[in-house]
Amino acid sequence: MSRPKILLTRRWPKAVEKHLLERYDVTFNETDQPLERSEIRAAMTKFDAVCPTVSDRVGADVLDVKNRRAKVLGNYGVGFSHIDIDTCKKLGIVVTNTPDVLTECTADIALTLMLMIARRAGEGERQVRSRSWTGWRPTHMLGTKVSGKTLGLIGFGRIGQATAARAHHGFGMKILYYSRRPASPEVEAATGGKYCESLDDLIVESDFISLHCPGGAETRHLINAQRIDRMKPSAFLINTARGEVVDEEALIDALKHNRIAGAGLDVYEREPDVPNDMIALNNVVLLPHLGSATTETRVEMGMRVARNLDAFFDGQEPPDRVV
Ligand code: DGY
Repeated sequence: MSRPKILLTRRWPKAVEKHLLERYDVTFNETDQPLERSEIRAAMTKFDAVCPTVSDRVGADVLDVKNRRAKVLGNYGVGFSHIDIDTCKKLGIVVTNTPDVLTECTADIALTLMLMIARRAGEGERQVRSRSWTGWRPTHMLGTKVSGKTLGLIGFGRIGQATAARAHHGFGMKILYYSRRPASPEVEAATGGKYCESLDDLIVESDFISLHCPGGAETRHLINAQRIDRMKPSAFLINTARGEVVDEEALIDALKHNRIAGAGLDVYEREPDVPNDMIALNNVVLLPHLGSATTETRVEMGMRVARNLDAFFDGQEPPDRVV
């Protein structure tokens, strides 16, 4: 029997590419540039599986093609708001993702951003590198203490819980969380999390607000101008979830006018485009979507895709099927 033909839309860690070649006829994107929509559309007619990632837009225009060959999308990543899930359901296309393996590293980046923005680490680094540091003094670059403060988490899945556990046990923070339903008493005990029924109450009470909800139409601009205005003027907003959850223009306006203390961002509304007005601000730390970017995690993510494809092509239920 011929080997299933699969397309990886970007380069993956070498160990994973090598692993996939043992079983599949794999086409790599040698340039590692994002594919055009027309290229992904054409791929749907040429490959048995297409493996996209967060930098691809996989909408109905790409999926709904004549003579479609691809029956499965093995998404490299846990979030899948870049894939039109309703169209996949309608067309019977199986979609899988890569949960669990990036939980710890993404939680680590949320903590990194909290510490960086509160302790002005980005600003400080720029000062040293530009040789404008004039030496220690009692009033130099004073930041905000993180330990003991209140962290409000919006979304309390795996990554939200891992962030809470780090903040609670590592920094003695009080944890509030908002999600569709309360977590189990065991999870609350392990993370220090206290359920907050109202998103607006959580926003008002938190010193740090960290976003851990999925992207997509339901959560688009969940953090809008009104909600930003309800934050304490001393509070920080952290986003490692999806850019579209925050109204970026409203956030820039609030930061410009110091209506909140700052923000730490790993994700943006129109990646990789980050507005000039945002770049110009000192009270924001900007990372280039590094949440899962460790060698260990990126290899595990790829292996997780391989496991899903193997199950699919063996006629079994893929373990991480989302559609
Ligand atoms: C994901 O997996 O959804 C991330 O955003 C990419 O690390």
